[in-house]
Amino acid sequence: MSSEGIARDSSLSNEEQQFELTVRPTKLADYIGQKQVKENLRVYMRAALNRKEALDHVLLTGPPGLGKTTLANIIAHEMGAMLHSTAGPSIEIPGDLVGQLTNLQKGDVLFIDEIHRLNPAIEEKLYPAMEDYEFDLMIGQGVVARTQKIRLEKFTLIGATTRPGRITLPLRERFGFSPRLDYYPVDDLGKIVRRSAGIVGVQTDADGADEIAKRSRGTPRIANRLLRRVRDFAEVRHDGAITGDLARAGLELFYRYAAEAGLVGGPAPLRFYS
Ligand SMILES: Nc1ncnc2c1ncn2[C@@H]1O[C@H](COP(=O)(O)OP(=O)(O)O)[C@@H](O)[C@H]1O
Ligand SMILES: [Mg+2]
Repeated sequence: MSSEGIARDSSLSNEEQQFELTVRPTKLADYIGQKQVKENLRVYMRAALNRKEALDHVLLTGPPGLGKTTLANIIAHEMGAMLHSTAGPSIEIPGDLVGQLTNLQKGDVLFIDEIHRLNPAIEEKLYPAMEDYEFDLMIGQGVVARTQKIRLEKFTLIGATTRPGRITLPLRERFGFSPRLDYYPVDDLGKIVRRSAGIVGVQTDADGADEIAKRSRGTPRIANRLLRRVRDFAEVRHDGAITGDLARAGLELFYRYAAEAGLVGGPAPLRFYS
């Protein structure tokens, strides 16, 4: 499956996807932290815009939930480009890829999530597309088989992967910029929690946001998830405002529940921080 407009993550619950779409920043200025990556991107994007060219291909790497899909959306938005979004495992035959590629207009962004899961035969077809904006289409089979070159518009490929070690060297070399996203410091996570709380209209004091940030395992997705859990707790037990004490109580409850249920992506244990 692929979609146009915004890139989503199909491995998450509907509730979580909806929340992420609501709070996901769409401008680079609203993307918190990852200063180095943002500074570089700003330069590359401005240069490409000045030259009226497509941005060079970008490979975003880093653990789940750190903001790769968000950044792909932001790049397309900042470049004034249309985003077409798909994932490595969804491109099963060369026909799927040629369909995606011939659909692209000049300057468009093709986002391939989990690009390390592309099948090798398809990956090879991507090389000339990335380098020369050409696709070699095989027509017919056996002795009558021939290839036809299809011209493509100049587009930007954005790949995302949690497993950069699995990207082959020839593919990796065809990206002009390959930033690695790192786990976020607590300060940045606190800003993300306050920003998300502001968007969904939940009151948090500094202590409340900080408690959530400290237990988010360096990961914005988890910070937003914990905010939702603590918000539920605050609405049921109190008047809805998130204070430090309330966050601690709500996070402990969620921590015990997640530990018992064997859920991943719950709060970090308290002992990490006390
Ligand atoms: N730098 C950031 N600033 C603000 N929010 C962020 C940032 N990075 C990620 N998020 C939030 O975390 C959620 C998960 O990010 P996402 O881009 O889907 O991660 P990934 O694709 O790396 O798994 C997003 O919905 C977004 O709201
Ligand atoms: Mg993603």
